[in-house]
Amino acid sequence: MASDKSFYLTTPIYYVNDAPHIGHAYTTVAGDVLTRWHRQRGESVWYLTGTDEHGQKVLNTAQSNNVLPQQWCDKLVESSWKPVWKDLNIANDDFIRTTEKRHTERVQKFLQGLKDAGHIYAGKFEGPYCIGCEEFKLPGDLDEGKCKIHSKPVEMLSEDNWFFKLSAFRQPLLDYYKSNPGACQPESARNEVISFLEGEVRDLSISRSTFDWGIPVPWDTDQVIYVWFDALLNYATAVGLGDDPASEGGKKFAKTWPADVHLVGKDILRFHAVIWPAMLMAANVPVPKKIFAHGWLLVGGEKMSKSKLTGIAPGDITKDFGVDAFRYYFLKAIPFGSDGSFSWEDMAARYTSELANDFGNLASRLIAMIEKYCDGKIPKVAKDNDLASLLVKTVKSADDAICALDFQGGINAIMDFCKRVNGYVTEKEPWVVAKDPSRKNELDEILYNTAESLRALAVLLHPVMPEVTEKLWQSLGAASLGDIGNQRVDQVSNWGQLLAQSTVTKTDVLFPRLEEAK
Ligand code: ME8
Ligand code: MG
Repeated sequence: MASDKSFYLTTPIYYVNDAPHIGHAYTTVAGDVLTRWHRQRGESVWYLTGTDEHGQKVLNTAQSNNVLPQQWCDKLVESSWKPVWKDLNIANDDFIRTTEKRHTERVQKFLQGLKDAGHIYAGKFEGPYCIGCEEFKLPGDLDEGKCKIHSKPVEMLSEDNWFFKLSAFRQPLLDYYKSNPGACQPESARNEVISFLEGEVRDLSISRSTFDWGIPVPWDTDQVIYVWFDALLNYATAVGLGDDPASEGGKKFAKTWPADVHLVGKDILRFHAVIWPAMLMAANVPVPKKIFAHGWLLVGGEKMSKSKLTGIAPGDITKDFGVDAFRYYFLKAIPFGSDGSFSWEDMAARYTSELANDFGNLASRLIAMIEKYCDGKIPKVAKDNDLASLLVKTVKSADDAICALDFQGGINAIMDFCKRVNGYVTEKEPWVVAKDPSRKNELDEILYNTAESLRALAVLLHPVMPEVTEKLWQSLGAASLGDIGNQRVDQVSNWGQLLAQSTVTKTDVLFPRLEEAK
């Protein structure tokens, strides 16, 4: 039945206290590129994103805007979050909101199950709480009374709460990560989790009693479930956690669970690599196969964030550079797993040299030459062995890298091929060859090989840049080969797919010069 399993990938569900910034877009685009790549590998894929709507942070924001929290969430989701993902061409299969009944009901059932199995007990929480993190802190987590991440004062809590016996899972988790190196990546994240687990792990308060914006604890409705306990469960409730195996939800769960990758920022690594698998172990549900924690986009050396007002909206960048360049830039410029600073200068420089010059110009030159020298028809099939064998290697390197979430390595491999094709055209000088009618055969070969290379580039770059590659696909007259999104990674290097005599058409420039774009 293994072949029946979908490749299931999730992003964090984001707080709806504000609109998305490029940090949120970074994770969601990465997930989109990875899932589009897996779809083009011919796999069944399920891509989930969504919003985290309960808790004090969202409640406070709604109150300071004088609206009910549910209204606030509805408005933000419909007018900010969903439209931004649509604008960025995110092809998620589902969008979960933690205020949906399909989530709240399954969360309550799950929690009741843990209680019945003896993993929950009544206790008192006394200590600091950071509303920005929505996290119970230890004195050592603070810097002069402020949360180190949000640089804001914490609240001092003293509440009777329900506790989850997290400490009981310290050793099982440690054993698990030690024997499964792939379960938490990159290496720096894995080391952090292991060293955390080697220290003292305390039980976790999983309810709050001083406000009511949350899912009621089923056996004690004066309390609401702690927002992280609620939120983490989204990954499983969205695909039918706890449903009868014969029901639709149960079948979906069997097809998707365990998740293949939970993509998160390193700010929320511990919640995902410690609390979440412990919750699942307690309930005898398989743990996710991999938690991948990427780095932070920095502004002025600090994590970009909405609470510090350093958040840049994706639209601020896409209005000048377009959606495809936005998607390309962050994955190409920053090794996935490391922090990176965003800079307009670097973005503009890469746009011009890598996208407009190396890729866009290659395409427009080729189309112009086929129009001029071949009446706009793809010439007869030819094969340059060097290009063809380099393409085979390129596909292998790109596939290995992207499947390992090394987006930079994958895109580099593809763009190196693009550079080689440019070199091929420069060396072969088709514009010189064209002057001599006796060399028509040679000219046709050069143009076919270039067109065929561009076909492969369009397919390989499609997950990263869905719009321009679709334009290029049409322009190359490749539509007769099927939709570009249906082109398979394992077949892209089969040389000679473009059909002789297909008509090429000029399109708008793929990457307009920046001055013109403004
Ligand atoms: O933590 N650089 O939501 P959140 C890179 N609701 N990525 C960034 C980033 C930055 N500067 N800023 C944000 C929450 N992100 C919880 C999650 S999941 C069960 C609950 C991305 O709105 C990154 O993925 O604070 C980070 O982990 C996430 O947004 C935090 O989003
Ligand atoms: Mg945050």
